[in-house]
This record gives sequence, structure tokens and C-alpha cells, in this order.
Amino acid sequence: MTSTVARPLSIVVLISGSGSNLQAIIDAIGTGLPAKICRVISNNPQAYGLSRAREAGIPTDIVDQHDYADRESFDQALMNCIEQDRPALLVLAGFMRILTHNFVRHYNEHMINIHPSLLPHYQGLNTHQRVLDAGDTVHGVSVHFVSPELDSGPVILQAEIPVQTDDSAESLANRIHTQEHIIYPLVIRWFAEGRLHLHENSVILDDKEIKLLKYDPATHE
Ligand code: GRF
Repeated sequence: MTSTVARPLSIVVLISGSGSNLQAIIDAIGTGLPAKICRVISNNPQAYGLSRAREAGIPTDIVDQHDYADRESFDQALMNCIEQDRPALLVLAGFMRILTHNFVRHYNEHMINIHPSLLPHYQGLNTHQRVLDAGDTVHGVSVHFVSPELDSGPVILQAEIPVQTDDSAESLANRIHTQEHIIYPLVIRWFAEGRLHLHENSVILDDKEIKLLKYDPATHE
């Protein structure tokens, strides 16, 4: 009798900071997410996420932009580092560096990012404070395929949180993180199971085009 065992999705994770999303992915793999993190790469040698990766026995590398003359040579070095593993998916998890168009084109359809806002609103930094300043009553987080423009690209899944009158940027960030740690592993699972892909700039999930899908704990496992 022969049995076929599906190989786990090979991923490389890029980080710059704490790496709590990386940790959520590591934990999800520990409980059955069919993926393997081949390598974690940081542009910041001090990123705490590097310790999380080492703790989990994942190879790490640092590609520091200060060691490169320009954006192109940095991105080339980053690409060389990533290509040691030829991952099926590149996961940006708090990677605070704008990537060149060539880099993004190279990983087209195979690179996702998580951004703490309901895209297309609040691209860029300081999203929590900007939501408070605008008096919004709803905030959220988006997982999206990466396109050359900053924090844009087809959105795969969003999770919303209500903004409360006593919220601060910090309290919003904490509640957003909780949602991030649910939806990022979920989207990676869909990709690993072959249910999710990009087709002519449209997000296809289970053979249907989706637009601004909202996370629903009752229906999304
Ligand atoms: C997250 O809020 C993510 O949305 C943004 O950067 C932050 C990274 O947090 N892109 P962490 O390093 O995963 O804790």
C-alpha cells in the first residue's frame, strides 16, 4: 500500500521587531498548521523575533540595510538569503522596510503581509493613533498579497475590532495583535492547503473570487 503525505508549505518569514506574529505562526505549526518555517530573516540585528526563532530551532539570518549602498543591493542580498530555501511563500511579519518593485515582482503571488488597519484605509505607520484622531468607531487588521505600492495589494482577510471611548493607541494595538495572531496563521493555512491564490490580481479562495472578506470566528476555523 502506498500513501501520499502532503509536504508542508515551505515559508520564509521576514521580521524587524518583536515577532509576535512569527510566534503565532510557530505555535500554529506546533498544533497542526501544515507549514515549515525554513528561515527567519531580520533587517534589524536586535529584533526580539530572532530569539523566538532560535528558541524554536529555526535558522536565522540578518540582512542589515546599513551594510548595503542602496535599496537595490540590499534587496538583492535579501533575495539571495531567501533563495537558500526557495520557499513557496514569503511571509512579511512586521518587516519595516519598503521593498523595491523588482523584489515584489519576483515574489508576485507568493508574498503576503499583515497590516494593522482596514485597508485601503490607513496605509503606512501609526495606524492606531490615526484611527483615534479620526474618531473612527471601528478599527482592524488586514492580511494581503503584496504589490509594489506600500501597504496595498489585494486584501485576503480582515478582522475588525470596535473602538471604545477609553481606547489608547496601546490598547488598540493589543487588541489588534490578538486578531493578527488568529488571522495570519489562518490565511497561511488556506495557502498551504492550496485553497488560496492570486489570479490576475483577484484573490481566489475555494475557487471563488473574494473581496474584503471579514474574519468570522463562527465560520472560519
Ligand atoms: C503588527 O502589528 C503588524 O500588523 C505590523 O507590524 C506589527 C508586527 O508585530 N505589520 P510583531 O513584530 O509581529 O509583534
